[in-house]
Amino acid sequence: MNHTTQKRQLKPHLRWLLAGDVPDVLTIERECFEHPWTEDDWRRVLANRDGIALVATVDERVIGYMVYLKKPRHLELLNLAVRRTHRRLGVGRTLVAKLAGKLSPGRRSSVLAAVRERNLSGHQFFAATGWMAVRVVDGYFDAQEDGGEKETAYVFRLTRPQFDDANVQDPISNVQ
Ligand SMILES: CC(C)(COP(=O)(O)OP(=O)(O)OC[C@H]1O[C@@H](n2cnc3c(N)ncnc32)[C@H](O)[C@@H]1OP(=O)(O)O)[C@@H](O)C(=O)NCCC(=O)NCCS
Repeated sequence: MNHTTQKRQLKPHLRWLLAGDVPDVLTIERECFEHPWTEDDWRRVLANRDGIALVATVDERVIGYMVYLKKPRHLELLNLAVRRTHRRLGVGRTLVAKLAGKLSPGRRSSVLAAVRERNLSGHQFFAATGWMAVRVVDGYFDAQEDGGEKETAYVFRLTRPQFDDANVQDPISNVQ
């Protein structure tokens, strides 16, 4: 008898983020981050014609999302999160696979993301889903409101091996 147990995985539906999703996204954001994006942050990124936001849904309920910017030579992941109740079920991996699917040779051949130094589970997630840490930027994230020190960013890069273009040096924006 085969005793191999299959890990439970969700197959979320991915679609564009709609204005009506913002309250759900803000709730998940507060649940996930010490420095959550505000409604204004969301408005600003959605007003940017190069900003793309997708949500992951199960039974039409939003359980995760990602936001990225289209830069001339690469994509920049600004935010990606999954509701606590739906973690370790492959939702984050599904979002990253969607992002990788947007890459194309000679055009946008990689994705960059800056992750806070203290976000260790974020680092583990990026490492497990095919990203490589390529740079460390001291003092990258703003200081906390209580006057704490600025936080270091680890910059991760995702490529599809066949598209690899090691010369991408574009700057990154402020993300989680
Ligand atoms: C990081 C995050 C998006 C992962 O989402 P998820 O849907 O749970 O991820 P997946 O189930 O697809 O995980 C894929 C793999 O990543 C790794 N991983 C994910 N979360 C991890 C954790 N907390 N600790 C260690 N490894 C982890 C595992 O290898 C996992 O595979 P496995 O479950 O088969 O072992 C989610 O934990 C989250 O929303 N965190 C807060 C927000 C955040 O830090 N976002 C990233 C920076 S913007």
